[in-house]
Amino acid sequence: MQIYDLIQKTRRLVPLSETEIYTLVEGFTKGEIPDYMMSAWLMAVCCQGLTAEETSALTMAMRDSGECLDLSTLGVPTVDKHSTGGIGDKTTLLVAPIVAACGGHVPKMSGRGLGFTGGTVDKLESIPGFCVDLPQADFMRITEEIGCCIISQSGELTPADKKIYALRNLTATVDSIPLICASIMSKKLALGASCVLLDVKYGHGAFMKTPEEAVLLADLMVSVGHQAGRECRALITDMNAPLGSCVGNALEIAEVIRILRGEERGRITELSLALSAQMLVLLGKGDVVECRKMAEEALTSGRALEKFAAMIAAQGGNAAVTEDLSLLPQAEVQLTVRAPESGFIREIQSEEVGLACLGLGAGRTADRAKIDPGAGVVLSRFVGDEVTKGDPLFTVHGSSEALCENAAQRLLQAYSYSEEYTEPPQMIYKIVE
Ligand code: URA
Repeated sequence: MQIYDLIQKTRRLVPLSETEIYTLVEGFTKGEIPDYMMSAWLMAVCCQGLTAEETSALTMAMRDSGECLDLSTLGVPTVDKHSTGGIGDKTTLLVAPIVAACGGHVPKMSGRGLGFTGGTVDKLESIPGFCVDLPQADFMRITEEIGCCIISQSGELTPADKKIYALRNLTATVDSIPLICASIMSKKLALGASCVLLDVKYGHGAFMKTPEEAVLLADLMVSVGHQAGRECRALITDMNAPLGSCVGNALEIAEVIRILRGEERGRITELSLALSAQMLVLLGKGDVVECRKMAEEALTSGRALEKFAAMIAAQGGNAAVTEDLSLLPQAEVQLTVRAPESGFIREIQSEEVGLACLGLGAGRTADRAKIDPGAGVVLSRFVGDEVTKGDPLFTVHGSSEALCENAAQRLLQAYSYSEEYTEPPQMIYKIVE
């Protein structure tokens, strides 16, 4: 089989067979197909798309490129959750203990941040001692005993995705619906949870810019999940404004703890409860109204906080952070910036907030680059709020005055104001079942 012919076929909208797709993925993973040929094929996919059958075959070929976990040995249904990435998105850290406190089991492998979006694993690593690289046996044991365990993506799972994603990042071929679907779903299927909840984001801080595009991606991912025999649902959610009040690793852990303690509530809490309810529905714990009530009770009773503390301790971290936030890394410099004008906040461009945090060292621009766990931003005012010139708007946390000043200038550009009240974006656009 000539790889040249496969590139030509995709370019000319001639569907590839399952065998041809497996040949491409296997050949590239083993290093037999050179980067330039795979790049050409990926670009053909970006421009011409793939059929649903081709996308499904690509997902399975990527899943089968490495090890697949067998979670059935736990003897209980398990639920995984995936977000397509957002600014300040710490929902995994809220839903995992909430669902565990309701008797569910959440085995979760998460990624590190790259570019302007943060990674759950980086956030957890800001807790002193927290270990994200656990052996599989410990991962299974902690999931069984506590109900949730979050570790970093194992290198043995989906090596094809690792290689293909790296190439996509270099060749402007990331934002393609079939490629994103195959990348995410191959990892979800290899992890082996019986149910999968997807949080597909749209807006200027997300891969999908419009809700319509996000629905297309969600439909495809849910259908690939069903074909592979998984219970699967997706929520289409807004990413036009940062999620929650904090962006940055330790700052987001502190926010999670304040929410679990019942000291804060907002859009992020509402979204987390909605996601938790859907995960509990997938696990067969009841209908959506009952499951939402269960999730709310787990949060307000403090049982979710207990689960979070238990998970931190089981993964080697200092669980005392749940009682004393000063044990988390703190930035040396904190710069509070005030509103330059009066009015209603019409928009806070989340991508700009992400980029400002990246500049502070809260994220990484290269794989494996070191990050500053204490850096980030705390927003004091949100979309829809009325501000008077001089009111505190946000506080920048960083390692130097210069870094904080730069970030502050960028952040100020992310805000726009209006004379009239603007309704904050609706959090959940649609549920795809
Ligand atoms: N997240 C992934 O894991 N893969 C993609 O292609 C995009 C987002």
